[in-house]
Amino acid sequence: MIPGSDSGPRPIILDTDPGQDDAIAILAALAAPELEVLGVTAVAGNVPLELTARNARMICELAGRPDVPVFAGCDRPVRRELVTAEHVHGSTGIDGAELPEPTTALQPQHAVDWMAETLSAAGEREITICPVGPMTNVAAVLEANPQAARSIKEIVCMGGGFFGGGNTTPAAEFNVFVDPDAAQTVLRCGAPVTMLPLDATHKALMPRSWIDRVRALGTAAGEAAAGMLDFYERFDIDKYGMSGGPLHDPNVIAYLLRPDLYRGRHCNVEVEAESSLTLGMTVVDWWGVTDRPPNCQYITEVDADGFYDLLLALLARLP
Ligand code: RIB
Ligand code: CA
Repeated sequence: MIPGSDSGPRPIILDTDPGQDDAIAILAALAAPELEVLGVTAVAGNVPLELTARNARMICELAGRPDVPVFAGCDRPVRRELVTAEHVHGSTGIDGAELPEPTTALQPQHAVDWMAETLSAAGEREITICPVGPMTNVAAVLEANPQAARSIKEIVCMGGGFFGGGNTTPAAEFNVFVDPDAAQTVLRCGAPVTMLPLDATHKALMPRSWIDRVRALGTAAGEAAAGMLDFYERFDIDKYGMSGGPLHDPNVIAYLLRPDLYRGRHCNVEVEAESSLTLGMTVVDWWGVTDRPPNCQYITEVDADGFYDLLLALLARLP
């Protein structure tokens, strides 16, 4: 049986920096019978690694899945200093949820070593990698083991932004800004890459009524998710004057389950990794005006109603 085909769930590795939106992505992935989460790898990003590794375990336990192995990965970007986002996510990274400290231990193996071993043991194009934070862990695997790309079915990442600019600088989205070198490595690795950028996620803003429906699930997961989202949405509403917060990371999971909800174009995407003015910018050759080969399915459209309906149905499956 080939995992991820019609005969079985799709094996994925979720690489994450929880983060309230990451937390919803983890919950959604664990709720979906179509996916097999082989492991969750934590990376420094929204908050430092110690907290992202703690939060990842707490969210797996919230989903009733303490069996899912959580690995700690890189505590800083490939080359640059770590930039975090407590001003968005709060001091814990998942402010808004009143959750108990994790009871499951971190796996002893470094996330990069585990990911490399898992890929080396996998068949060709078998495993889907889902980075929803800075891509430091994934890049470290690919830099040390370039052949590992052959075992990757697809890298489906949340990151980047072009037509609508950035959210961290005028030019750069947070995940790519924090580690532009890592994002460039991922884009150049040779495995199929699909990018869910701000150009998509900013078109699916969380309706207030949707958060109320999440809370009305009457479950522990629903209550915690609604609490996190109440806290999380304020930043983007205040900053952008949006009608709701963009729920970035769960778009990766929704894309895996319902790619028909999304539209984009296969084109060349490069990352600015040097300029202080545009560091972390994803330069999208949407019109093919260069001779740079297409290397990314760059998503720009999303069926927002379909996305939130899917997400609510997934959250409703949790305890
Ligand atoms: O720019 C949004 C991304 O940065 C999301 O993944 C969010 O969790 C933060 O990591
Ligand atoms: Ca994230």
